[in-house]
Amino acid sequence: MNLRLAINVEDFRRLARRRLPKLVFDFMDGGVLDECTRDANERDFRRIELRPKACATLTDFNTGTSVLGTPVSFPLLVSPMGTLTMFHPEGDAAIARAARKTGSIFMHSFVSGVTIEDTVKAIGDADRVWAQTTLRTPEENEAYRRRVANLGIRTLMIAAETVGSDKRERDLHNGLATMPPRPPLKGLVDFALHPGWVYRWLTGPNTTFADHRIDGNPIRMSQMYSFMGEYGRPNWSALQRLRDSWDGNLVVKGIGTPEDALLAVDLGADALVVSNLGGRHFDGQPSTISVLPDIVKAVRGIGSSIDIVVDGGVRRGSDIVRALALGATAAAAGRPFGYAIAAAGQEGAEKVFGIYREEFTATMKSVGASTVREINSSVLHPGPLGTSGWHQAATGMGHAEASVVASH
Ligand SMILES: Cc1cc2nc3c(=O)[nH]c(=O)nc-3n(C[C@H](O)[C@H](O)[C@H](O)COP(=O)(O)O)c2cc1C
Repeated sequence: MNLRLAINVEDFRRLARRRLPKLVFDFMDGGVLDECTRDANERDFRRIELRPKACATLTDFNTGTSVLGTPVSFPLLVSPMGTLTMFHPEGDAAIARAARKTGSIFMHSFVSGVTIEDTVKAIGDADRVWAQTTLRTPEENEAYRRRVANLGIRTLMIAAETVGSDKRERDLHNGLATMPPRPPLKGLVDFALHPGWVYRWLTGPNTTFADHRIDGNPIRMSQMYSFMGEYGRPNWSALQRLRDSWDGNLVVKGIGTPEDALLAVDLGADALVVSNLGGRHFDGQPSTISVLPDIVKAVRGIGSSIDIVVDGGVRRGSDIVRALALGATAAAAGRPFGYAIAAAGQEGAEKVFGIYREEFTATMKSVGASTVREINSSVLHPGPLGTSGWHQAATGMGHAEASVVASH
């Protein structure tokens, strides 16, 4: 397949698989342990059925909305991903430029290979960048916040991660237990079979954590694992201190339960990202779309109207409609943009945005929604087997009750 023939996200995944050495593709594509959570994220979206609206009148049709006050052309954001430069030398900058053209928002990872300054330059609008921070020494935290503020970025994000280990078995089999990697012989042969990637990687910028320095230099590959081991995984009081020291928006990512959502709201978060980090850290937790309704109910139940973004397994524009129908403000995608730049850099990212937008638009029309506001629980199909639970969670109605309403 070539780029011209790629018509959906899965096609971009296939292209990425062909263009990247196995070790690199698996690092992006894989999840932890048995990858149950990674797979559930995608699978559960497909179980949610939507109600068709025949002969809909779609006056003033518009896919636009806003997230944290920033207008977006349709409700899809880019989730933060570290080391995107492994997939394409331009990394974050390629996706950020595509996000600018599309009118989306790019979340910059705290372990990106492209500095926050270069990312803002690429997107040309600081409001469209959410800067992910981590907690290290107070001096480092303060210095990073100053850089972000000087760039005019209004939104800081932090991942409220689980604290377990990241046993990604594809990576271990491929020799990524060490950095730089030590692939087995067949892995070395596989690199030789991808000369295009090897050439781009050797002639491109060094793979680093560009925003963090040791002795004045960006963190190199050999220093990455020790850096990841020592940075401060946040606890709730550290998040509160971060909140108190930052005047702009604070987004808490990694929320997977109503209780944690309420803690984040309580500390003063301006938005949540319901996320299990694509099943890359803790296997066995449920899909994000399955926990979304309870989180929305808990947050709205205490009168909070903060924005709620959901990521994990969003592979179709119709998944964005499903997410909004279950109460999200917007959806976000990670790996699909990794596949996109691996396949074709910025052009790939633009195409992937275009695919999502086209599918989102078509689905909106099919459910009879003229605006994003009109996508709510009324577009969810209440039965049969397995799907009534979604509807019940979103509407508070049982299956039988909901069927009666739906038939009127
Ligand atoms: C290669 C890769 C790197 C990632 N790095 C980060 C990161 O630095 N910070 C973070 O909060 N999440 C990170 N994530 C998780 C994503 O932000 C996002 O939650 C997840 O990929 C969403 O699922 P999806 O890939 O199915 O769309 C990463 C994901 C991938 C695939």
